[in-house]
Amino acid sequence: MANILSPSILAADFKILGKQIGEADKAGAQYLHIDVMDGVFVPSISFGLPVIRSIRSATDRVFDVHLMIVDPIRYIKDFVDAGADIITFHLEAAKDPMAVIDEIHKYGKKAGLSIKPQTKAEALLPYLGKADMILVMTVEPGFGGQKLIPSTLEKVKRVRSLLAERGFDTDIQVDGGITIGNLKEVIGCGANVIVAGSSIFNGDITTNTASFLEIMG
Ligand code: DX5
Ligand code: ZN
Repeated sequence: MANILSPSILAADFKILGKQIGEADKAGAQYLHIDVMDGVFVPSISFGLPVIRSIRSATDRVFDVHLMIVDPIRYIKDFVDAGADIITFHLEAAKDPMAVIDEIHKYGKKAGLSIKPQTKAEALLPYLGKADMILVMTVEPGFGGQKLIPSTLEKVKRVRSLLAERGFDTDIQVDGGITIGNLKEVIGCGANVIVAGSSIFNGDITTNTASFLEIMG
């Protein structure tokens, strides 16, 4: 299964956001990770629909939108209209996760389902084979620049084996604290969609992206 890099613009310099997105795109990053925070599901507020609409013309790369918002079903159509290709929501934030997956599929988009570090892999069982991507958070959602929580890597392995036992080769995304130093280990645990914010946008974006892609093979 292909490894995919999804730079998180949360760590970008917003006064030159379009330019920085162009750099990550040109350097070969396949996705763009877009963190939407509502100040309720997580303490922070990041950015929302107008920003996504505006950057849609900056790249043809896949818009991988990570919704850290309560009751996400209310906004699926809006994020589709703004240009999202993959919409990931939190299991902990949805009253009826299956209904959210169906709502995303209704618009022909890919549905990602995410769990926080304290949520067990088994909570995903009813949705395996239904969600197109599983996002195992490797930090508590809400802030960039945190350290990866080691116990979450065991969970990545567990999710990969729960999927394999059922014959699914679903993408597993990891998000939070991924660096050049732990990337190999993270991939070895079964993750194949790699989110990286500070490791890509702090310093030279082209060089950082190339270093990630080289390790990812
Ligand atoms: C955290 C966000 C992440 C964040 C990752 O809640 O979901 O996508 O941008 O940032 P780094 O890679 O700096 O940990
Ligand atoms: Zn994210």
